Amino acid sequence: MKYKRVLLKLSGESLMGKKSFGIDNQRLNDYAQQIKDIYDAGVEIAIVIGGGNIFRGVQAEEGGMDRTHGDYMGMLATMINSMALQAALESAGIDSRLQSAIEMKEIAEPFVRRRAVRHLEKGRVVIFGAGTGNPYFTTDSAACLRAIEINADVILKGTRVDGIYTADPEKDPSAKKFDSITFDDVYENGLKVMDMTAFTLCKENDLPIIVFDMDTSGNLKKVLLGETVGTVVSN
Ligand code: GTP
Repeated sequence: MKYKRVLLKLSGESLMGKKSFGIDNQRLNDYAQQIKDIYDAGVEIAIVIGGGNIFRGVQAEEGGMDRTHGDYMGMLATMINSMALQAALESAGIDSRLQSAIEMKEIAEPFVRRRAVRHLEKGRVVIFGAGTGNPYFTTDSAACLRAIEINADVILKGTRVDGIYTADPEKDPSAKKFDSITFDDVYENGLKVMDMTAFTLCKENDLPIIVFDMDTSGNLKKVLLGETVGTVVSN
């Protein structure tokens, strides 16, 4: 396997599958199976999952709700997804631990960096829930922060698109996919990978990001095997 320790960022919205809200069990189990494939190969895996299938802080603000209030609700949404994912991993025979950035000790361990690293060393998948625990940060930022804290080799951003394109492929049929691109080129060309807070965190800490389509079964393993799936962003 190309990487020893990875942080996998999963999209909450992707978890909806074909549904318009909530969690699609088939998609959830597919994710668990894909994770099992790389887990069995000995990869140390930490996971951050978004909450957009349940609640988005930004939308709350549009409805007149205070932004911070909405963001906290979004963090709780990530906990629901994290718990669902933990259950799915467990059914797939994967040992896992869930840590929350907001204390809720009846359902999750509190986030303790050293403990998370110890879990990984012992072969447990660690899910980090509740984002960074702070409003105004996305789950992408949480993923980058945790990845840096645990010294992950790479962030694997699993989404519905299969990489970064020269333009939006849904609007411009001539758009071409990059196999690799530098952080600087992403910035200079106004391309979107993550929000700027997350993006800068990765660039400044020299942490590569691989954007790939997680909704195609088998892709996660291909990324770990070093196959050209998605787009690699690095310095
Ligand atoms: P080691 O100390 O390396 O053996 O790790 P461990 O996670 O197996 O030990 P521990 O006895 O701390 O945890 C046993 C179980 O309790 C695991 O499933 C943990 O996720 C869970 N656990 C530990 N601390 C907490 C907590 O504060 N809240 C909740 N809800 N669960 C916890």
